[in-house]
Amino acid sequence: MKVNNICCIGAGYVGGPTMAVIAQKNPDIKVTVVDINEKRIDAWNSNNFDELPIYEPGLSDVVKKARGRNLFFSTDINSAIIDSEMIFISVNTPTKTSGEGKGFAADLKYIESCANQIAEVSKTDKIIVEKSTVPVRTSEKIKKILNSKNKSIDFQILSNPEFLAEGTAMRDLQIPDRVIIGGDNTKKGNEAIQSLVEIYSSWVPKKNILTTNLWSSELSKLTANAFLAQRISSINSLSELCEETGADIEEVSKAVGMDSRIGNSFLKTSVGFGGSCFQKDILNLVYISRSIGLEKVANYWEQILIINKHQRDRFANKIYSLINKESLNKNVCILGWAFKKDTNDTRESAAIYVANNLIKSNIYLNVYDPKVKESQIFFDMNYINGNDKKNKEHISIYNNPIDCIHKTNIIAILTEWDEFKDYDWKNLYKKMSKPAYIFDGRNILDKVKLESIGFNYIGLGR
Ligand SMILES: NC(=O)c1ccc[n+]([C@@H]2O[C@H](COP(=O)([O-])OP(=O)(O)OC[C@H]3O[C@@H](n4cnc5c(N)ncnc54)[C@H](O)[C@@H]3O)[C@@H](O)[C@H]2O)c1
Repeated sequence: MKVNNICCIGAGYVGGPTMAVIAQKNPDIKVTVVDINEKRIDAWNSNNFDELPIYEPGLSDVVKKARGRNLFFSTDINSAIIDSEMIFISVNTPTKTSGEGKGFAADLKYIESCANQIAEVSKTDKIIVEKSTVPVRTSEKIKKILNSKNKSIDFQILSNPEFLAEGTAMRDLQIPDRVIIGGDNTKKGNEAIQSLVEIYSSWVPKKNILTTNLWSSELSKLTANAFLAQRISSINSLSELCEETGADIEEVSKAVGMDSRIGNSFLKTSVGFGGSCFQKDILNLVYISRSIGLEKVANYWEQILIINKHQRDRFANKIYSLINKESLNKNVCILGWAFKKDTNDTRESAAIYVANNLIKSNIYLNVYDPKVKESQIFFDMNYINGNDKKNKEHISIYNNPIDCIHKTNIIAILTEWDEFKDYDWKNLYKKMSKPAYIFDGRNILDKVKLESIGFNYIGLGR
């Protein structure tokens, strides 16, 4: 079936950029992205392209060209469902905070609510595409809701997980390593798969489009994230060993990564991974494994999260211990709040956990991030500790690094923004209280250069 109208439910970090690229590459298809969040949709429709709700390099140029031509953002979810032949579900699937599976399982209530709405309003056959990351066999649940509520319509369910990484989303979408499309192995299932293959074929070589059964597609996404996070925890665990043995993790990482069987990506030591996906998807994998009795498998993957938390905690402890030992100023400058560079997303950012540990020890924080707004920083802190008063007393936000370092002995780098590497560190050094320390939580700065200026450089594993 040739698709002329696409609806995407969920205008977030996945729905927005993904649909912008589908619209860019398929100018003959009308793509409507809908969301219950009116503020978010207004921001997508803003004439000030710096105000789009999501910051991603290259995104605003694509939206500028396609919006109003064949890309639309709306809160009229019902109309978009009725008018489309294909519906992507790109809503959030956070970790459950209550009920069975609390703290581990993915909360599918947003997915289920989409399925209910689609079943209620649809008048013609539809292809439903799971874009959100979901536990294996979720499509079965979606199918059940759709078929039980609307018996007159044929719904084909596809799984098409998204592998974009925030910060490089546009490049990842425009030149994906692979696109995975899972569907039923029936005549109609195969036709639905082909409809989606055709859309991606506008710009993705056929050899990079992998078609699978539904369950393999769903599980591939969880597994890919678990593998990536596992590499980060592996190198982070070794950073502590390096500190105790005199080895340098940067040298070890380079030596290991030059082995072509291993490769060098995701081997950078850091204060820990963040983002909305890695933790949630691993918790989900742990939950699925444990719930079917695979305790050893569950324990294996859970260890990734244990190391990640340990790395954040020990980074905060290092700062706290130094302040006590050397009787330093209790103000610490935090550079970077986003969970990684080139995004304004702060979900599960290591900065939140480090900051929370530090203010628990009564340390005051000056925070600067080039893309994260003050309101978001306080939202994150209130979400994690619920102590608005303490957060307001202990955290001050700055819009430039110079003011942010004022009266501090310690700078902690928590996001690997490129601008931090380009700073005039000589000048910053002059403005700090002495002695001046840099805790480089991303190992991005030049240790030798900083030490020659007078800084005490403390990296991870070096
Ligand atoms: N963020 C990433 O880097 C990334 C990468 C790959 C996959 N994923 C997965 O994609 C999914 C979406 O992630 P995200 O980061 O875009 O989330 P997000 O929170 O940024 O966006 C989800 C949007 O869905 C909307 N929504 C929820 N229920 C709705 C409903 N019933 N009707 C209409 N709108 C509704 C929310 O208002 C929100 O704007 C998740 O499953 C995530 O795991 C995320």
